Amino acid sequence: MKEIDKINKAYKYLSRIYAKPIDTILVLGSGLGALAGEVDDAIVVSCRDIPYIKTSTTPYHDGKLVLGTISGKSVAVMSGRVHLYEDITPNDVVRLIRVLSLMGAKRIVLTNSAGAINREYKVGDVVAIRDHVSLFVPSSLTGDIRREIGDKLNFVDMSEVYDSNYLGLLDKIAKEQNLDLKTGVYVQLSGAQYETPSEIRLLDKLGCDLVGMSTVIESIASRHLGLKIVAFSIITNMASGIEKVKLSHEEVKIVANKTGEKLKSIIKKFLEKID
Ligand code: HPA
Repeated sequence: MKEIDKINKAYKYLSRIYAKPIDTILVLGSGLGALAGEVDDAIVVSCRDIPYIKTSTTPYHDGKLVLGTISGKSVAVMSGRVHLYEDITPNDVVRLIRVLSLMGAKRIVLTNSAGAINREYKVGDVVAIRDHVSLFVPSSLTGDIRREIGDKLNFVDMSEVYDSNYLGLLDKIAKEQNLDLKTGVYVQLSGAQYETPSEIRLLDKLGCDLVGMSTVIESIASRHLGLKIVAFSIITNMASGIEKVKLSHEEVKIVANKTGEKLKSIIKKFLEKID
């Protein structure tokens, strides 16, 4: 089946359940599921029930779509994203974002857990992503879909993926709330393995501050759709080889849960302040 037909079928299913236009998509990373509990007048849809939408197989990723409002903004919260390492295609990863864009979404807030390559970060920091490196994962802009939705031009501009006005606003919010908010360059790798110390040294030389297994593929699709983008990482660990500890998903989840509160308050304020 053509990609556009899958998107339309999922759209038809969801728009029957929820007729109101969506303003903002929120994608929750590992251990960040708590934000889904902040949605007022929530309608919870299991991703399993939406035609052609994949469900996460990763522990601590829910597989729920929560529709409602946060800080007065109409939101669609994807609690439990899917990842490339789940043996699926980039189009599978971003399909729900494309569907939600058809439902009116104008912007997207992406969150993830990441390892810190930059030694100035520490575990528990929240970092606003100011740019990314996509060179190690396939693009979500291949095939006919490029010309069937979103920006129908062939090649999408990537000179400002993460909205600079929003980055300025986030800086202001963090100062007002007395929270430390750093910025950085995120690199997505396919996973599902963590990196070797040699890979981290290489990524450091390439100018990457943070490493993870998501987000970039979603940002690229979002740019193509014309969505304004903000993205956050929670630093759950120093990247491989920086400290003498072994990495584990359990540890990543514990830190993400703890730091989630800080990120939650930044996102709620952000949604309150944008128009
Ligand atoms: N590497 C890749 N992905 C991650 C990491 C990491 O160190 N921490 C959390 N997600």
